[in-house]
Amino acid sequence: MKVDGKNIRPIWLNQNRKTVNIIDQRRLPHEYIIADLETVADVIMAIKEMYVRGAPLIGATGAFGVFLAAVNSEDKTVPDDYLINECNRLKAARPTAVNLSWAVDRVLTVVLKSENSKRVKAAKKEAEIISNEEAENCRKIGKYGLALIENISRKKNGKTVNILTHCNAGWLACVEYGTATAPMYAAFDTRIDIHVWVDETRPLNQGARLTAWELGKHGINHTVITDNAGGHLMQHGMVDMVIVGTDRTTYTGDVANKIGTYLKALAAKDNNIPFYVALPSSTFDWTLRDGVNEIPIEERDPDEIRYVQGLDSGRTCNVLVPPADSPAGNYAFDVTPSRLVTGFITERGICNATEKDILGLFPEKM
Ligand code: MRU
Repeated sequence: MKVDGKNIRPIWLNQNRKTVNIIDQRRLPHEYIIADLETVADVIMAIKEMYVRGAPLIGATGAFGVFLAAVNSEDKTVPDDYLINECNRLKAARPTAVNLSWAVDRVLTVVLKSENSKRVKAAKKEAEIISNEEAENCRKIGKYGLALIENISRKKNGKTVNILTHCNAGWLACVEYGTATAPMYAAFDTRIDIHVWVDETRPLNQGARLTAWELGKHGINHTVITDNAGGHLMQHGMVDMVIVGTDRTTYTGDVANKIGTYLKALAAKDNNIPFYVALPSSTFDWTLRDGVNEIPIEERDPDEIRYVQGLDSGRTCNVLVPPADSPAGNYAFDVTPSRLVTGFITERGICNATEKDILGLFPEKM
């Protein structure tokens, strides 16, 4: 996507082809810093500490992590064992987004099938394919989601379509276009009048920091709101639809996404507002049936809740909010049951949140 006229992705291979470059998303929007990842340990740290985040990007980063593991495996006496072990470490970096194990396993499978001398090249190629495929999947999600926004715009006689989103499911989370944001970019680019309500998304404020930055750079009209404002806006006819992303969705349609998504879905249901989830097929978990009971929910450092990051006199700093000795609990995701989801926007089209319809779009997974 374009930032200040320059085409940019949140991850790419460096010129020398042995270093992975990423945008350090912890520092956006006030600082734009590119970080180098040179080892598997760097990749694990970048995923854990959320330099990179968002399900498809976590997957792409894991894929490039296998490439770095392949580079480092060249001088190992038992390279297969080394590679498998490094991949297990990569897959354990963050538990909820299923894209991570999907992408790591996909590159590892290709590498293990290749001759020793061709492994680095094979890993690089497969990681780049995954990255490009995710970008293309998001473009298609935008195309299908656009039809939904067009429909609402038509019903409103061209008046502003108000879309609410939670967290950041934009290109920063996805290589290009984003999932939830792809239909918004497509609508804006075809001159449909849209406005986006951006949940700030505590504790790390991915909405206020990242989604607002992305939308602003593209010129899309948006307003940052507190996480709890959505219900009020919905009651007063100020939201036409909700579109969110997901970190893992069961083949039965239960959706894990950033903490607070479930409450938005409940409020949307109560107010008869369509609640869509946009995702590439890499975010479906084809093994899990019961999202609430089976999807692992990451619990992160309570300091992410206790401290808030912001800009003070031109410098990024953290400030303590609650009493220093009050404990905090940092549940990073929740699960929205399929009954609250109006539909999924995927690279193959839109479907209802039922096992039958999901498998209807992806019959090879039956
Ligand atoms: O903790 P994060 O920032 O990785 O959480 C990201 C989300 O919850 C996104 O909505 C999800 O990964 C979908 S990204 C297209």
